[in-house]
Amino acid sequence: MPQIFDRSSNALARMSLILTGLIVIALGVTLDQLQRSPWVTRQGQRADQPVPFSHKHHVQGLGIQCQYCHTGVERSSYAGIPPTKTCMNCHAQIWTNAQLLEPVRQSWATGESIRWIRVHDLPDYVYFNHSIHVNKGIGCSSCHGRVDLMPIMYQENSLQMEWCLNCHRNPAKNLRPAGEVYNMAWTGPSREKPVWCGTNGDKTGTPTAQTVSCTTVNPEQVGARTASLDMLPPTDQPETHMLDVAAHPNGAAGPTGADNVSYTKFTDQQGLGLFLLKQYHIRDPHELSSCETCHR
Ligand code: HEC
Ligand code: HEC
Ligand code: HEC
Ligand code: HEC
Ligand code: HEC
Repeated sequence: MPQIFDRSSNALARMSLILTGLIVIALGVTLDQLQRSPWVTRQGQRADQPVPFSHKHHVQGLGIQCQYCHTGVERSSYAGIPPTKTCMNCHAQIWTNAQLLEPVRQSWATGESIRWIRVHDLPDYVYFNHSIHVNKGIGCSSCHGRVDLMPIMYQENSLQMEWCLNCHRNPAKNLRPAGEVYNMAWTGPSREKPVWCGTNGDKTGTPTAQTVSCTTVNPEQVGARTASLDMLPPTDQPETHMLDVAAHPNGAAGPTGADNVSYTKFTDQQGLGLFLLKQYHIRDPHELSSCETCHR
């Protein structure tokens, strides 16, 4: 029987196999890249909102707090979008004739909500909760970026699983005093701008975010004693001063002159993060990265 294929076709077959392999790999890489691309994650895109609401103007310009509009953020899983009533608190008097605000007045007159386009939107099979993050010292800006500088809202981070896990595997690098979560410009402690934190120990039971108080003003200068840099549990310290145990709502506020809090000085994020990790009772990275945490 004559040979149908000569020797060279063998090489050809091998070549085409290799080529096919390469194409499959290239396709895989492309799809993977595509999956992560801003086109899929919607990172950076500005939605065409019914009203061009500016966070920059209202937050940075007018100094309105996030919680004034996003009322659920500390107490519930949702931050929530404010109802028209919230806008009318001011816009019943200010800019009452502006064309830009016509949809707001329309909504107020008809009682029909403004149809804001969602910017951040996790798939339904992912469980997310704002309050736990906010109360454990993760700032809005760690996830949403510099909202106070955004004329039009956009999504700063991918919100993909990898992004969540990147923090859950090492939360210390992002932990800040609970009183600083609304501070958009927070950058963590440094040698030039140290942070002092103290707890009132066992006095009120288990320490939580609320029993830790931090300040950017040297407590020594306000009369309290500063503890050494090591992280002895407060009970091991012979004689301590007690301080107001509430987290300072405006962050940088100084100590309020009570007693029995011993302060530790922090000059870098790592030190502060490890301290807060303990004080806030953050679960270990394994538990935080287990599938059931986010897929229930
Ligand atoms: C005066 C009211 C007001 C204040 C103050 C305010 N927001 Fe908003 N925020 C809105 C409105 C209205 C929307 C929906 C329209 C939009 O996306 O721009 C919104 C949307 C958002 C979204 C996107 C929601 C989505 O669709 O995914 C985030 C994130 C957000 N705000 C964060 C913040 C943060 C952080 C602060 C404080 C620095 C803040 N906001 C202060 C009114 C406000
Ligand atoms: C605490 C008062 C206050 C609240 C609450 C408020 N605004 Fe405003 N808003 C202002 C003021 C003041 C201006 C005018 C700023 C200027 O031009 O100096 C303004 C301006 C605007 C403008 C014009 C464009 C711009 O950003 O300058 C739009 C649009 C607007 N607001 C939408 C809204 C919407 C929507 C809400 C509700 C989610 C809202 N505002 C809530 C005070 C408020
Ligand atoms: C750990 C990351 C993280 C932090 C911290 C965080 N957010 Fe969010 N935020 C998200 C994610 C993720 C979504 C999308 C949730 C969804 O689709 O269910 C979201 C959605 C929102 C929305 C849209 C409405 C809603 O409730 O879904 C607003 C408004 C908002 N965040 C405001 C804030 C404010 C204000 C703060 C600070 C007090 C804050 N966020 C802190 C991750 C975060
Ligand atoms: C910047 C850091 C950071 C990012 C980003 C982040 N988390 Fe978290 N997350 C935390 C911390 C800190 C806790 C609190 C852990 C604790 O108290 O043990 C937490 C807790 C949780 C919990 C536990 C809530 C509960 O009630 O048990 C869930 C669920 C969760 N995160 C989901 C997510 C999802 C989903 C994303 C991404 C969309 C995300 N997180 C992004 C830091 C982060
Ligand atoms: C910290 C929260 C978090 C944890 C822990 C987590 N996931 Fe996810 N997962 C997410 C988020 C957020 C998405 C949505 C990603 C998107 O929208 O692209 C997701 C998406 C997925 C998807 C859909 C496909 C994809 O990759 O987009 C699968 C499958 C999945 N997760 C499996 C797992 C498994 C298995 C584990 C445990 C090993 C796990 N996840 C742990 C947050 C988490």
